[in-house]
Order: sequence, then structure tokens, then C-alpha cells
Amino acid sequence: MEKLLGMLRAAGDATRLRLLLLLTKAELTVSEITLILGQSQPRVSRHLRLLCEAGLLERFKEGAWVFYRAADQAKAVELARAISALADVEADPVLVDDQRRLAEVRTQRAQEAAAYFRANAAEWERIRSLHVPEQEVEAAIVRLLGRDRLDSVLDAGTGTGRMLELLSPYIRRGIGIDGSPEMLAIGRDRLGQASAFNCQVRRGDVYRLPFGDGQVANGFDAVLFHQVLHFLDDPQAALREAIRVLKPGGRILIADFAPHALEFLRTEHAHRRLGFSDAEVQGWFKAAGLKTLASQSLVPSDTEGLTVMVWLGETVGAVVREKTIEAVP
Ligand SMILES: C[S@@+](CC[C@H](N)C(=O)[O-])C[C@H]1O[C@@H](n2cnc3c(N)ncnc32)[C@H](O)[C@@H]1O
Repeated sequence: MEKLLGMLRAAGDATRLRLLLLLTKAELTVSEITLILGQSQPRVSRHLRLLCEAGLLERFKEGAWVFYRAADQAKAVELARAISALADVEADPVLVDDQRRLAEVRTQRAQEAAAYFRANAAEWERIRSLHVPEQEVEAAIVRLLGRDRLDSVLDAGTGTGRMLELLSPYIRRGIGIDGSPEMLAIGRDRLGQASAFNCQVRRGDVYRLPFGDGQVANGFDAVLFHQVLHFLDDPQAALREAIRVLKPGGRILIADFAPHALEFLRTEHAHRRLGFSDAEVQGWFKAAGLKTLASQSLVPSDTEGLTVMVWLGETVGAVVREKTIEAVP
């Protein structure tokens, strides 16, 4: 009762309600929140603190950045969901404005990351292996996905198509989706050179995969995110979208950095998150109804390198889809 009253009191304020509605949609830094709300930083910070103390929000510091997001403890989630459902976001001009500015902040971020890949597409092969025990990671990916159990694979954020090239001998069909035409141009060339004719790449957004609703219940055996999620502002939304296009019993493989402190990857290489902890990714899997089949860490031999984690999750039971998706072409 005390806890619930505390949460209700914290939410019972116009600014804090706006914050709650925003942070159920995105994970944001204080400066982004300040920009969206148009209020001073001390004021915003005070409201954020009250919401955190009541258990409705979580604050986490990662390197030089501090993020806020809606708490994922059961009661807090239920309350935040109920409030979001009751708030008539579309009818209130203040809330409409908040959503518009949130969309602007996200677009700005996405444009910054896209500009980075546009500028670095040709150099990507060198950059991609800088901090990573690449061969070990690739061997782990093939082993975990299983050489003989894959028919169709989607490589989300395929970049220059290395994952498709790697998996092409073991699959019937591979599709890579990426938002950067420059990266895709190199990817097409690479797949042609490797005679990986069973694979193709297309332009698209991992938040809205280009596989629409159709008549045939079909989908991919596996969706991969190899070194993609740390660029995204809402990795969980991308994960949910990937699950939408999976076959029942299909698998998600995530390869990404373990938590690290290389701030320059943020400032110079457009990373948003400095890696992910095992608990965080397993929490996403749980929330999305995936069973964790593997969680493996690949520690580099030199001290300069970064640890890479590979997670494998499987949908349990039937995939909950409002509609079926079109057959994988
Ligand atoms: C670090 S690269 C990794 C590429 C590839 N998976 C690899 O391991 O070489 C990340 C890729 O994600 C793509 N990307 C980032 N956000 C995206 C989005 N919202 N939709 C589609 N692609 C995205 C970028 O264009 C970039 O090519």
C-alpha cells in the first residue's frame, strides 16, 4: 500500500506524468529529456529523482552518460502501462508536442549514426575488427546457430554483409537489412565476390522490418544482430520487431560488447551504449518471451580488446502475432 501510494503520488504531477509517458517509450539522457520538455536541467533532474525514488523510473550511469528509463519491476510496469493507456496522448497538445520532440530527438540520433556509417563504409572492415576477437566470435555464431538447422536467416543491421557471407554455406536463404546505402553497396559487392548467391541485402529499418502482414504464416529460422544494438536508442523495440518475423521456435542471436569504458566509441564511432550486461539482455529475452539457450562471453587475449558476448534465445510456444507475416520471398 505504501509503495503504491508513493508511486501514485510521484506520478500525480503534470511534468512527472509527461516524463513517465516519454520514458515508457524510450531510454533517454537528461539532456535529451531537457530538450523534449523545454524545462531547465535542475528542474527536470528533481522530477526524475522523485520518480526514481518512487520506483517508477530507473537511472543508470554508463561512462559519461546517464540514462533514464521506465522501471521494469512488475508493479511499476503495470502502473506505467495503465497510465499510458489512460492518457489521451493524441488529444492533449502538450503530450502531442512531447511525442513530436521525442521523434525529432530520435531522428537526430539516427541521422548522426547514419552519417557515421556513410562516412566510414569503406573503412568498416578495418574498424569492425579493431577491438574484437573476430574469428572466435564468428566460430561461436556458426556453432550456436547450428550448421544444419537453418533454412532462412535475417541479418538485421547487416552493414557490409559479413554475417551473410559467413552463414551462406549453411543456409538456404539469407536476407540482410540495413539503413545505410553505402554499407549495403559494399555488402552487395562482397556477397557477389564470395558467390553467396543465396543471400541478398536490402535497405530497411530494423525497427520496421520490410516484411508486412500477409496471408502466409511464415518467417525466419533465425534473426541476428551482430554489433548493431549498441547503436540503437531502443534495442528492445528492435528485438520485438525481430521476433515478429521469426518462425515459431525461431531463434534470436545477439553478438555485442560486454559493458566497457571506451567512451571514444561513443564520441568518435556513434555508439550509444557502452556494451550490455548479461542481466540486461537476459532481461530483454525474458520480457519478450524468449528462452535463453546460450550466453557466452569471448574474452580477448590482449588487454586492449573488448569482451564480446553472444546470446542465443528461442521463442517458446507459439509466437504471439496479431497477424501473420508475408512469406519470406
Ligand atoms: C556496426 S555496423 C555492424 C554491421 C554488421 N552487422 C557487421 O557486423 O559487420 C551496424 C550497422 O547497423 C546499421 N543500422 C543502425 N541502425 C539501424 C536501423 N535502425 N535500421 C537498419 N540498420 C541500422 C548501420 O547502418 C550499420 O551498418
